Amino acid sequence: MNPLDFSVEELYQLMDLAMDIEKNPDKYAHACNRKKLATLFYEPSTRTRLSFEAAMLNLGGSVLGFSEASSSSASKGESVADTIRVISCYADIVAMRHPKEGAPLVAALHSRIPVINAGDGGHQHPTQTLADLYTIKKLHGRLDHLTIGLCGDLKFGRTVHSLIEALSRYEGIRFLLISPKELRVPEYIRKDVLDKKKIPYEEVERMEDALPNLDILYMTRIQKERFFNEEEYLRMKGFYILNEEKMKLARPDTYVLHPLPRVNEISVDVDDDPRAKYFEQAQNAVYMRMALILTLLNIHVDEK
Ligand code: CP
Repeated sequence: MNPLDFSVEELYQLMDLAMDIEKNPDKYAHACNRKKLATLFYEPSTRTRLSFEAAMLNLGGSVLGFSEASSSSASKGESVADTIRVISCYADIVAMRHPKEGAPLVAALHSRIPVINAGDGGHQHPTQTLADLYTIKKLHGRLDHLTIGLCGDLKFGRTVHSLIEALSRYEGIRFLLISPKELRVPEYIRKDVLDKKKIPYEEVERMEDALPNLDILYMTRIQKERFFNEEEYLRMKGFYILNEEKMKLARPDTYVLHPLPRVNEISVDVDDDPRAKYFEQAQNAVYMRMALILTLLNIHVDEK
């Protein structure tokens, strides 16, 4: 299951549930008793895997899984399809990260239990988008009529692809796509999402040109692991560095998000700026992943 399969209405319901979980955590503390989440991570992760595991533990469930392909039977040549058939016997729900684009979809086609895409190659990262949407809604009170600046590696940065797709469903959204020309958003995002839905967007290279006009500045890391050529990566690595000096160009209500991990694209002197919201964003991911698990398992917690 790809969370972007949810309708706009269903996404609002998910965010309402996340808000209730955030306000009343005790109410949900046993909602997933005896349920098991399997985290199948064929690629490194800190936030996504651990926040999924924290989410299930917060709901009273249990977790099992692996954090690298080399410690699973994938290293012996087992296919994703066979792995998921077996995991369906052990768990109630799966979160899967895989370096191959489409691998979680293949898994879902062979699974008896819900499979959540926790990031597939340079393609999509839908549950990061759930956290992003929830964070933006909390900060601005809405998801429509916003100008969103996406900055950095827009070619390989899967979080950006999912976020563009999700936000394009709301009225009055405008994007400023800030990247070097080598790292612009892929053609399929431009054609199949932005052009198709007639979403206004502008591609710019200089962050300084975009900064005064944004409701959200969404920074991204240059995705070293997706580059074929080390030299090319090193050339791109320091292209954007957001610091307090540059933050002076931004409005008081321009909030800075980043899916993390960061490398050097946000200087640590920005962390104390009240507009820096990337650590809150990481916290919000737990509430949204709790809401997602409950929804996919069709578990409803009654009002007392
Ligand atoms: N945001 C995110 O996906 O972080 P991890 O790679 O640490 O999971």
